[in-house]
Amino acid sequence: MKIARVLLLILGAAWGLEAAAALTLAPLQGAMPARAPVPPAKGLPALPPFEEEIVRNPFAPPGRRDDLRRGIAREIAGFRLRSLLPAPDAGRLSEVAGADMGWALPDRTYWDNIPPAARQIPKNWSGLPAVRFPNAELGGIREIRLRAGPEYDQWLLRDPLHDLTACISVQRLTHRVYFMEVAPDPDGSWRYQPSRDNCYSCHPSGPRVIRPLEETGVDAALLARFNRRILSYGACHFGQGVLPPSRGEPISDSRCAGCHDGVRRGRLYTLQARAIRFKMELERSMPPQ
Ligand code: HEC
Ligand code: HEC
Repeated sequence: MKIARVLLLILGAAWGLEAAAALTLAPLQGAMPARAPVPPAKGLPALPPFEEEIVRNPFAPPGRRDDLRRGIAREIAGFRLRSLLPAPDAGRLSEVAGADMGWALPDRTYWDNIPPAARQIPKNWSGLPAVRFPNAELGGIREIRLRAGPEYDQWLLRDPLHDLTACISVQRLTHRVYFMEVAPDPDGSWRYQPSRDNCYSCHPSGPRVIRPLEETGVDAALLARFNRRILSYGACHFGQGVLPPSRGEPISDSRCAGCHDGVRRGRLYTLQARAIRFKMELERSMPPQ
């Protein structure tokens, strides 16, 4: 079992490096077309026209949906295969190279160091505004809720297909970000759940803009509110959270660096090759046309 797991990690890394190398070979693109901005939402800064366009239409381009559906079918088959491997275990996980969340601190210590107000997840989410939508990369119907506390925005994710419950807390004043995967306790409260996922490999800027596969069943007005709020953070701060060697080489491609500059969006590294490949080759939303 251990060998199978190491093989999966090696295969994943090789595929990622290939995608990252392809980036440096692609040609330059032209500048973004200018569009009239929509009025800013109350209390939030106005967004650049390109981001307003994403708020207006966050869904996958119709011409890409069949390819995305094929990608989802492959992902679900792969997920079922990986589910046969042993479940993560708190004691062992942080000792397995590459299988932990990739933070500078061991996962458990990272969790213990999250400020209590960021880590305090409500037992009952039913009163919080929720967007339900079909995920475009891994499949399944996900549900994302927002709890705007006095100091933190807590983004709460439920993904029943992948048996995943997670939270990203953003300190509104500083845009410092904290990632948590959680599991329910018998009394309904939430406890630390060791994760197999490296959150930063897909979340280089903090919370991800929600870009569903299709419109059916999605509350478009609430989704626009959520995405506007997420875009308004720009690149979040990870503090000392990320271990520099674990993120690989910076991606300095000039088609990306103008926006992924560590201010507007998070800088990109080879660690994020999988997310980059998804955005460039499958969804084809990056670089923006
Ligand atoms: C394979 C890529 C991937 C990985 C790995 C990943 N996420 Fe996400 N996550 C996403 C995407 C994409 C979204 C946006 C919603 C969607 O499309 O499903 C998202 C959304 C979320 C949200 C809802 C708020 C938001 O960002 O829109 C939370 C909370 C979340 N993820 C937590 C986590 C945590 C915690 C981890 C690590 C344990 C993690 N994620 C790892 C891709 C990923
Ligand atoms: C005009 C500004 C702009 C340029 C140029 C740009 N991006 Fe983005 N990128 C964004 C915005 C805004 C988002 C959030 C919306 C989304 O996820 O589609 C984003 C999201 C992403 C994400 C998801 C992680 C995140 O930061 O939320 C990846 C990966 C990504 N871009 C890769 C690239 C790559 C690779 C290039 C260059 C080939 C590129 N981008 C060029 C603006 C840009």
